[in-house]
Amino acid sequence: MDAPLPADKPQHPYARAGTVHQWLPFTPNRDFQRQPRVVVQASGMHFTTSNGRSVLDGVSSLWCVNAGHRCAPINAAIRDQLEMLDYSTAFSMTNDRAVQAAGMIAALAPDDLNKVLFCNSGSEAADTSLKLALAYHRARGEGHRCVFIGRERGYHGVNFGGMSVGGIPGNRKAYGAAMLPRVDHMRFIHDPAHAFIQGELPQWREDPLLDLEQRILPLHDPSNVAAIIVEPVAGSAGWYVPPQGYLQRLREICDKHGILLIFDEVITGFGRLGTAFAAQYFGVTPDMLNFAKGVTNGTIPMGGVVCSDRIYDTLMQVDQPAHAIEFFHGYTYSGHPVASAAAVATLQHYVEADLFARAARMAPVLGDAMHSQLRNLPHVTGIRTLGMAGAVELQGIAGSPGKRAYEIFLRCYENGVLVRNAGDVLVFAPAFIAEETHIAQMVDTLGEAIRALA
Ligand SMILES: Cc1ncc(COP(=O)(O)O)c(C=O)c1O
Repeated sequence: MDAPLPADKPQHPYARAGTVHQWLPFTPNRDFQRQPRVVVQASGMHFTTSNGRSVLDGVSSLWCVNAGHRCAPINAAIRDQLEMLDYSTAFSMTNDRAVQAAGMIAALAPDDLNKVLFCNSGSEAADTSLKLALAYHRARGEGHRCVFIGRERGYHGVNFGGMSVGGIPGNRKAYGAAMLPRVDHMRFIHDPAHAFIQGELPQWREDPLLDLEQRILPLHDPSNVAAIIVEPVAGSAGWYVPPQGYLQRLREICDKHGILLIFDEVITGFGRLGTAFAAQYFGVTPDMLNFAKGVTNGTIPMGGVVCSDRIYDTLMQVDQPAHAIEFFHGYTYSGHPVASAAAVATLQHYVEADLFARAARMAPVLGDAMHSQLRNLPHVTGIRTLGMAGAVELQGIAGSPGKRAYEIFLRCYENGVLVRNAGDVLVFAPAFIAEETHIAQMVDTLGEAIRALA
């Protein structure tokens, strides 16, 4: 385990010895304080910890660092931008880098998804897309459309809108009174009959969208529904893959009833499935596509929503004077020049290094390694691999959900590999530059930990 802090850190007068003053997000903080894990440097696929150990980043730092750490052209672009234009307001003017980044994102997005609203995170992207859905319907004279539909175990960040349409129980439990009032959830996309999925979509015998068509939509009346939001592949819950035809049918249902379809591509965006977005992988175009994380290779916070020309045009066709604002929404740092420069350099690098194609090429290597080495280990009840990500589902310890995977995560870290634990699922999502040797080390280390803690 790492030393709590570098030994030479000057002590703040209020610092208590051995205490990290930071309160970590989505972390068991009491246990973390016992043995803090602190990194001080990174390069390519690896971190260096505060006590000089090397840890292989098996999760691209939570689906962000698709091109690997400290990617030279991205870092150079950030440095250059700081010397050129550090910041400029985003209201009623913009900067050249934000314009360039928006153009590049629109070019990567499918069909008529051409207008980009920037924000700073995936959570803000979720709330931006929900607000845009309401504003769009209102501009069309359908202001009564205010029901949102998410999916059980979906994750759309931590702000009130995203939390309300999200469906991970632990994220909602403490905040019941503050949820958006008119939200429903479709059933989850997991069938234990398809516990082992290797690089292809399962074919379900039943239709998981019948529940939406026959129960949820009639209950609210489709004419009241503003938008349905889904992750094309459910990431934070533990890489759950939709059945064949699911997203196509969801698109048809939305079209039939005038409901907007939002894809939250915060983790599937920028190459995770070997295409720019999951929308292209599945051949389904949403009305809005949310992104964050990989857009800057994790270097500078940035998120956004790409929306269709139809949505933009509808909001522009308001019968208002020219000085009137069409959409009352935005952030001080929307399209921040340094974040935008990072995005431009990142997207250029993804294309020049052909990294999406590399993700597609390496995906079966990861899938083969996980399925061949982990399938028969104790407590493994499922493995799902698709694109450059894979999840191992474990039988949890009775009465202690999540404990088994947490302890495996700790052991893997101690043994030099970062894996993500989500409930009793362990997820790998390496950078697209991963070599076979990295994948072998990741899978070997996870296999050893599963066996050792059985
Ligand atoms: C699908 C999805 N949406 C939204 C978010 C929230 O993003 P952020 O943590 O940048 O707010 C995440 C984060 O993992 C995510 O996976």
